[in-house]
Order: sequence, then structure tokens, then C-alpha cells
Amino acid sequence: MKKIKFAILFMILSSTVYAADEKAVAVNTGPGLGLSQSEMLIVILVIFAFVLLFVSITLLNAFKVMYREQLNPTPYSVPVKEPVLDYEAWLGQKKNKPSVWEKLLSLKPIEQEKDLEIDHAYDGIKELNNPVPAWFNVLFFGTVIFAAGYLFYYHIGGYGDLQDQEYVNEMVKAQQEKAAFLEKSSNTIDENSVKFDNTQTVLEEGRGIFNSNCAVCHGDKGQGIIGPNLTDEFWLHGGGINNIFKTIKYGVPDKGMISWEKNLSPKQISAVSNFIMSLKDTKPVGAKAPQGEKYEEKDPQDNEMKSVKDSLSKTDATKE
Ligand code: HEC
Repeated sequence: MKKIKFAILFMILSSTVYAADEKAVAVNTGPGLGLSQSEMLIVILVIFAFVLLFVSITLLNAFKVMYREQLNPTPYSVPVKEPVLDYEAWLGQKKNKPSVWEKLLSLKPIEQEKDLEIDHAYDGIKELNNPVPAWFNVLFFGTVIFAAGYLFYYHIGGYGDLQDQEYVNEMVKAQQEKAAFLEKSSNTIDENSVKFDNTQTVLEEGRGIFNSNCAVCHGDKGQGIIGPNLTDEFWLHGGGINNIFKTIKYGVPDKGMISWEKNLSPKQISAVSNFIMSLKDTKPVGAKAPQGEKYEEKDPQDNEMKSVKDSLSKTDATKE
């Protein structure tokens, strides 16, 4: 018997080892569980083999029992007759322990009602002394203890924030989340989506960026030094917020204007573009002569964009 079991076990083990070998070679081709078809087949076969093993061992045990019974059968046992009880005897035998339910609700059996009676009667009406159930007491004293703890935590010790403070905290958190969201969304601005915006904060930010990055070439007032005058209405690469944004973002590397995409965030480029828009007609002293062509501004939010290449091939307006 033992030998048969081992033989079966050995067969199955060897087949799983073989399966593991297969797995190593198989290439992952088909979808589903990341297994190839052949791997899938092997897995199914292995499962099948295990089921087969289980069934055969069970059958083996069953046959063993049958075989043993055949050799020396167990004699039938004589059935024991239980004596028939009458109701009173049965009641006496019944466990008189209260059930969990009865304990929980502090229920008393009806037979004990006589003992529960309180010693007074009003107009013949008697009262039973039924104690409060345990669960109710637990709940009641639990709330008392909780209330004491609550009072200490929030009102005496001052460890927790009161409602008003919690409101303030949440508003602050919401403000931070809003700021983070706006920061994120404003960093996705590109030359197509940039908006004309002349609010003070944006212009201030733009002025800061301009002074530290652009003033060397364009002059502190945008009057133009190496770079062209940014205050007139003549533009080499188009005026309007979209064109200016695009020029700053991609630059005109051939002509000495670098691409600022790497150094400035989209939000910063947008701010400095708006700052340049605000320089229009400021007529600073020592302004450089106009370059490029006159830009007819129909609308500050001008989406008609010039390609950098187009404007490069244009000759200077001043030379014409
Ligand atoms: C190294 C010098 C230099 C710096 C720094 C520089 N620029 Fe320029 N910029 C130029 C030159 C040169 C041109 C002209 C390119 C051409 O001739 O096509 C130009 C052109 C421009 C134009 C297009 C003007 C037009 O007429 O179409 C804008 C807008 C501009 N720069 C903005 C900026 C901003 C904003 C910064 C700072 C973030 C900046 N530049 C920094 C040299 C510079």
C-alpha cells in the first residue's frame, strides 16, 4: 500500500519538475495571467494531477477499510434503548442555566416572579424588582466615562481643536490645496492657452523675472539694447500675448534670443509675457529704433500665430 502511494507521489512530483523546466523555456505570448498557452496547459495539468492524487488516495483508504472489513467484519452493536421520560422528569433534566440572551437582558424565568415582588402594593397593584439589563448599564456608564474624557480632552486640557478651530484648519488646508491646484494647472499653459492678464500680482512677478533675466539684452525698461525694443508696436515675431509667449518659450537661437523653456516655468513665461504686453507705449528714453513689422492688435488675446520661421525671413521694417 505504502509503495503505491509513493509511486503516485513520485509521478506527480516528477511531472511538476518537468513543468517548471517548460516554464523556463516558454515565451510569454498570450494574454491572461501573463502565461503563455503551453504554460497554461501545464498549470491545468498539474492541478489535474493533484486532484487525481487526492482522489486516488481517498479511494485507496476506502478500499483499505473495505478490505479490512472483509477479513474480519465488525459485529453489529446492540442498539441502546433510551428510557421514555415524562414531562416533569424532562423539565428536571433540562439545563436550568440561563442562556446568553437571558443573561444579557437580565431576564428572570417566570417561576421566579414570586421572589421579585417588592413588598408594597398600591391599590392592589404590585411591582416587580426587575434590575436594569447589563448592556444598558454598560452603555450608560460608558457614555459617562466617555463624556468625562471628552470634556478633559477638548475643554480642560485643550488637546483637541474645537469646532471653530477645526473649521479654520480645514479652510487653510483647502486654501493650500487650491493654491497647489492652481499652481499645477497654470504650469500647463502653452502658447495656445496663455491668457492676457494685467493684474498687479502677475505684472509684478513678470517685472521680477524680466529684471533678472531679460533686462541685460532688452534694457531695464524694455527699451532694447542687444535685443529689440519691446515697448513699440513693431515686432519681429509678432505682438500679442500668444506670439510673445511663443518667442520667449522657443527663443530665436539664430539671432541671439535663447529659448527660455528650460529655465522658466510656463507660469513664469506667461507672467513675463504679460509684463511685456504692459510695456506697450511706455516710450522709455533711449528706446531702440523699431524693428520688424507693425503689429495691428485686434485683440490682446490674439490667437493668430506667426511661425518663427516666417518672421525670420522677413526683412527689417527699418531697412525698408
Ligand atoms: C542674450 C540676450 C537676450 C536675452 C537675455 C533675452 N533676449 Fe529676448 N531677444 C534677444 C534678441 C537678440 C532678440 C531678437 C531676435 C531676432 O532678431 O529674431 C530678442 C527677441 C525677443 C522678443 C521678440 C521681439 C520681437 O520683436 O518680436 C521677445 C518677446 C523677447 N526677446 C523677450 C525676452 C524675454 C522675456 C527675455 C527674458 C526672459 C529675453 N527676451 C531675454 C536677446 C535676448
